[in-house]
Amino acid sequence: MRQSLVMGNWKMNGSRSEGLALANAIAAGLKDGDKGIAVCVPYVYLSDVQGATKNTPLALGGQNVADQESGAYTGEISAAMLKECGCTYALVGHSERRSYYGDTDESVATRFCQAQKESVIPVLCIGETLEERESDTTFSVIDRQLNAVIDMAGIDALANSVIAYEPVWAIGTGKTATDDQAQEVHQYIRQQIAAKSQVVADKIQILYGGSVKPDNAKAIFAMPDIDGGLIGGASLDAASFLTIYQSI
Ligand code: 13P
Repeated sequence: MRQSLVMGNWKMNGSRSEGLALANAIAAGLKDGDKGIAVCVPYVYLSDVQGATKNTPLALGGQNVADQESGAYTGEISAAMLKECGCTYALVGHSERRSYYGDTDESVATRFCQAQKESVIPVLCIGETLEERESDTTFSVIDRQLNAVIDMAGIDALANSVIAYEPVWAIGTGKTATDDQAQEVHQYIRQQIAAKSQVVADKIQILYGGSVKPDNAKAIFAMPDIDGGLIGGASLDAASFLTIYQSI
């Protein structure tokens, strides 16, 4: 059985005090021994949230990570910096990074490798746009995004990573993929990995993201190849996020 994982992505929302209150409220809703729950916090609040959630089951993640180790890269945050601020995880290749900030397949693969160098677990986000789905290219988009990382990092590196399938058309739109649509792509991703390594395919957590809410989480998480979720909007409310976590 794979360990499930429910991860919040706060994106660029909330003030410092709101972030702290949210992290405290989530942590307060967890019991000792709970596992598989994390939040990806804006960089500037990571240290505060790290302090507030120390000794709780709530893990932390960054929302991106630099494709370089250190040096003159103004505005970037390295994997070592994330590690120092208590991050277990770092998102790489979120569709908002790919579409608004030009993160390419290659730079996403480099970010993936940089995270792993510091033992920060990369959460590789992949998914098709509406146009790509409608032109029947979903699987080739998935192949391209996945293979860019496999080609650079090697298949075994995926054993220490997480994949998040986030169809772009379902992000923040209230339009969720149906359980079957999501399962179909998750199964495809796992099969592509299995063709290279069955061990890695059996181990890797594949999360679904895109308008997961308390009322649809249970059905999505019940699908055999869906190991949890990457939650945007609904992770900004502690009660909703905890309900989603408890739906697994
Ligand atoms: P929503 O849950 O708001 O659709 O966002 C999903 C997402 O992009 C998580 O990374």
